[in-house]
Amino acid sequence: MRATRGEEVSHTPVWFMRQAGRSLPEYRAIREGTAMLESCMDPALVTEITLQPVRRYGVDAAIFFSDIVLPLKAVGVDLDIKPGVGPVVATPVETLTDVELIPDLEPGHVPYITEAVRSLVGELGGTPLIGFAGAPFTVASYLVEGGPSKDHARTKAMMFGAPDVWDALMRKIADISAAYLEVQVAAGASAVQLFDSWAGALTPDDYREHVMPHSAAVLERAGRLGVPRIHFGVGTGNLLSLMAEAGADVVGIDWRTPLASGIGQVGDRAVQGNLDPTLVFAPTEVMLQRAAQILDAGRAARGHVFNLGHGVIPSTDPDQLARLTDFVHEYRPAG
Ligand code: CP3
Repeated sequence: MRATRGEEVSHTPVWFMRQAGRSLPEYRAIREGTAMLESCMDPALVTEITLQPVRRYGVDAAIFFSDIVLPLKAVGVDLDIKPGVGPVVATPVETLTDVELIPDLEPGHVPYITEAVRSLVGELGGTPLIGFAGAPFTVASYLVEGGPSKDHARTKAMMFGAPDVWDALMRKIADISAAYLEVQVAAGASAVQLFDSWAGALTPDDYREHVMPHSAAVLERAGRLGVPRIHFGVGTGNLLSLMAEAGADVVGIDWRTPLASGIGQVGDRAVQGNLDPTLVFAPTEVMLQRAAQILDAGRAARGHVFNLGHGVIPSTDPDQLARLTDFVHEYRPAG
């Protein structure tokens, strides 16, 4: 929390995107026989899964176990998360009527989220809980494509060709994501992360015109809650200044952009990242050497939260993440 605000810290804090998930044997065991979305609606299971990596690694933050499409499911959109595939939507959104048929999110849609966050905050003690939501573009991609997509062609076709439908859809998702963050913070989450994982598919001009105002609306509402806002995307080396300007306190940087260059783009803000998630498969000393470079580079930022440049890969050896966490905690820059 101090690092997100640019205050002095005794060590660079560290957590990992997707730290709660398939890389952990205890996660695979507890999830056996329970579908992903069903797990997200079970407060006892959400609490346990969120705590698993905190216990194992001693990371400096917990990330709430849920999914960016959970709030859509909660308001009644017919979708599922298919193992090894990702979110799949039964009837993709095409028209203005399709958009208007999606209800707004009320806290009453997600009582299990409130319950899970409250229980977690009690269990976590001093460790902050990061709540999260999907950003409008990334969530829209699943709704319009009907599932995961490499090129987001249908989504961008709507953005370029049906501006009224696009605008309505982006406003709808922005409202849902902001309401979802409000529920998590009201129940005790200490910070929020807005995931715009697929924003890297956009040119800066298209991002600025068609996407940024809607992400900014979510971040503006989150800002009113008084918690730090982390804004993250993948392949966003050309968008970092805009993602910062959208209203982030901390900008998440993927591994393709050198941290020093990312810091130069985000202005007087903290950064998060950005070790290549495949480096945990390298020899430990190689991984740690690269982590040290990132920790050194992070000193130039207003604040630095160490993380991987994207989520933990499911086949990751948890012992490598344990070594990495300890290394970040013990690291003191030379000089
Ligand atoms: O530790 C954490 O980060 C856990 C919380 C979390 C999950 N999803 C759990 C999950 C978070 C923050 C997310 C966000 C999310 N979901 C994003 C943005 C982050 C990113 O990775 O860029 C996106 C794009 C999604 C959509 C989604 N949900 C995908 C692409 C997948 C993976 C599909 C697969 O099986 O490979 C999911 C499912 C999902 N969400 C899993 C987890 C732990 C895997 C479920 C399982 O165990 O089978």
